[in-house]
Amino acid sequence: MNTPANMQALVQLHDGYSDAQTGPNITDLAPFLAHKKVTVPVPGEGQALIKVDLAAVNPSDIHFIKGEYGQSRIKGMPAGFEGVGQVVAGDTPLVGQRVSFFAAGSGAWAEYALAGSSGLVPCRPDLAEVDAAGQLVNPLTAIAMFDLVKGSGADSFVLNAAGSQLGKLLITLGRDQGIKPIAVVRRSTQAAQLKELGAAEVIVTGKADALSAAQSIFRTLRPRILLDAVGDQFTADLFFAMPSHARWVNYGKLSTEAPALKELGQMIFRGKQIEGFWLTRWMKQVDPGRIPQAFMEIQGRFVSGAWKTDVAGIVPLSKAMTELPKVLAQPGGKAFIDPRG
Ligand SMILES: NC(=O)c1ccc[n+]([C@@H]2O[C@H](COP(=O)([O-])OP(=O)(O)OC[C@H]3O[C@@H](n4cnc5c(N)ncnc54)[C@H](OP(=O)(O)O)[C@@H]3O)[C@@H](O)[C@H]2O)c1
Repeated sequence: MNTPANMQALVQLHDGYSDAQTGPNITDLAPFLAHKKVTVPVPGEGQALIKVDLAAVNPSDIHFIKGEYGQSRIKGMPAGFEGVGQVVAGDTPLVGQRVSFFAAGSGAWAEYALAGSSGLVPCRPDLAEVDAAGQLVNPLTAIAMFDLVKGSGADSFVLNAAGSQLGKLLITLGRDQGIKPIAVVRRSTQAAQLKELGAAEVIVTGKADALSAAQSIFRTLRPRILLDAVGDQFTADLFFAMPSHARWVNYGKLSTEAPALKELGQMIFRGKQIEGFWLTRWMKQVDPGRIPQAFMEIQGRFVSGAWKTDVAGIVPLSKAMTELPKVLAQPGGKAFIDPRG
């Protein structure tokens, strides 16, 4: 395949970090990105060039372009952390294959992206394009954090932002492996859907009795892990309502609220812990054999229908500057960018 010299891409307008904490909501991309024609990147040692078929848009991408993520921005470089496409060149035996990839060196919101060759994930032919485009960030995190849940020894766990794509993956893992998910959401309209998916209980934040409902559920189900993507005051209150030795695992900051830790003594006298989870760190620390095993499971779950990607919309790259914020504003599904359009 002949690779062109230039490509269209959504490139970053800023370097470094912003020092702000405005969260993953966005109504206008123009302060952070521009749709431009740029040079197709050239893969170096240990890198692959991917012709992108579809790229995912995750909350981490929005935190990142706003300068609020754990990685520094590079002005002029295409954004976008993950996608699926064909390997067209590079230092890899996978040239010609369809792979899911983490972009590294040049992002996925472009016609071509760079990725580390060692992290390429070959896709089963029967894996749907949207599942393949988003199979790294959320599914791998779900598998990794569910290992923590299993390790807790409890037969229930608590998760908030439970109607997110990642939340739904976790709920069905709990359902299928006999560990009861206690789902926390902010919209009561999600309760029935999450119960149907496998949530044992649903707590709706903002209801006057939400905390006392949680206390009563915790007395019965005795969860030991709180998987938290929100990080607000209600999350802190939930954690202090959990049984002794509970662990608050924060992996996202969807709320911009700064919670007060009102009962720190529980850390001393009741053996509770607060910690962070970041997939990037987990991948460096985990037994390397766990990752290919996880991808077999991930692809198997999508193909069998045990997991499903809810799609809010697929936006052509050429129209993403105006159309992407509208799709991101729709609740209940993921947004994708199609660089072929
Ligand atoms: N640490 C890691 O390694 C890692 C890896 C993967 C994902 N994550 C994090 O996991 C979280 C979920 O990702 P996703 O892709 O599954 O998200 P998603 O499908 O885009 O859904 C976002 C969800 O967040 C909820 N939400 C937004 N703001 C909220 C707030 N202030 N309070 C409560 N709920 C709020 C939304 O609820 P409504 O439906 O009510 O709007 C929606 O259900 C994100 O925070 C992401 O950054 C972290």
